[in-house]
Amino acid sequence: MKDLEQILIEVKEKLESITDLNELNNLKVEYLGKKGSISLLSSKIATLPVEEKKIFGAEMNKLKTEVTTLIDDKRLFLENKKLEEKLKNEKIDVTLPATKIQVGSPNILEKIIEEVEEVFMSMGYDVVDGPEIEEDRYNFELLNIPKGHPARDAQDTFYIKDEEILLRSQTSPVQVRTMLDAGGEEPIRMICPGKTYRRDDDDATHSHQFMQIEGLLVDKDISLSDLKGTFDTIAKRLFGEDCVTRFRPSYYQFTEPSVETDISCFKCKGEGCSLCKNTGWITVSGAGMVHPNVLKNCGYDPNIWTGFAFGFGAERLAMLKYGINDIRTFYNTDLRELKEFDRKDCE
Ligand code: DAH
Repeated sequence: MKDLEQILIEVKEKLESITDLNELNNLKVEYLGKKGSISLLSSKIATLPVEEKKIFGAEMNKLKTEVTTLIDDKRLFLENKKLEEKLKNEKIDVTLPATKIQVGSPNILEKIIEEVEEVFMSMGYDVVDGPEIEEDRYNFELLNIPKGHPARDAQDTFYIKDEEILLRSQTSPVQVRTMLDAGGEEPIRMICPGKTYRRDDDDATHSHQFMQIEGLLVDKDISLSDLKGTFDTIAKRLFGEDCVTRFRPSYYQFTEPSVETDISCFKCKGEGCSLCKNTGWITVSGAGMVHPNVLKNCGYDPNIWTGFAFGFGAERLAMLKYGINDIRTFYNTDLRELKEFDRKDCE
């Protein structure tokens, strides 16, 4: 049987050559485990005379503590060494450029609508909403477009279930809904941006789904000059202070008189260019004085109340402002194109 001194020397020697934690564990089992050298030596205690038992016991405990401390110190040393190596290998170079985070931005159409909303809200208009699935009477009949009217041809749309339920072909039904809700007693100032639908074949200038921004003002003593002044203010805010406006006579069933509203071409300043087809003018909306029949249909007495209405094509505004020549650009979600407009907008 090895004596205590010898065991301690052996452990120290072996510890010196140990380089990893597995080996260290094996060593621990070899000496401190149940069947290890130290345990075996401890069992000798039973054979000793009483007076030696105490001394031997104390020496055994001392040896156990010493070996345990040696092994624990070595473990700490090996663990630290491992950590240091890991840190050295995984060193982070803080001077490397960071990975670019992709940041989204609002759709260009959404941006134009928000711009228009802001201008109108600053003039006291409410922004309201209406359903995209609409009834024939709101989309057409109450707007003075009875069944069989030829004006319906230009607004052929998608019908759902039967001929009475359709996808709205214009945002004008929101005029009707707003007037009916107001009960014929209150003045109204509202705009309604929203999706509209028509049974069109998609090409560079047509889309079966597009967006309009409807506007309605109803009050007492409102005249065409109020419409002109309002339109002029809006145009200057959207297209710049030097923007000139003009009205051209037109025809809509729900307004009388009706006009097309033009702005002077912001690209050539009225000189004539490809954008304005050499006319110096660009049409941006349809508008007019609310037809007495429509006021009556919606509970407003046309002898007391008058008003004006207008409808912008949102895509048309965005196309003009950002020089986009294909309406499908808004809907084909090509990130490269969307980023391009985002960049232009920032310049
Ligand atoms: N709803 C018309 C269209 O889709 C546009 C329009 C014209 C709206 C004149 C109006 C208006 O409110 O007064 O063609």
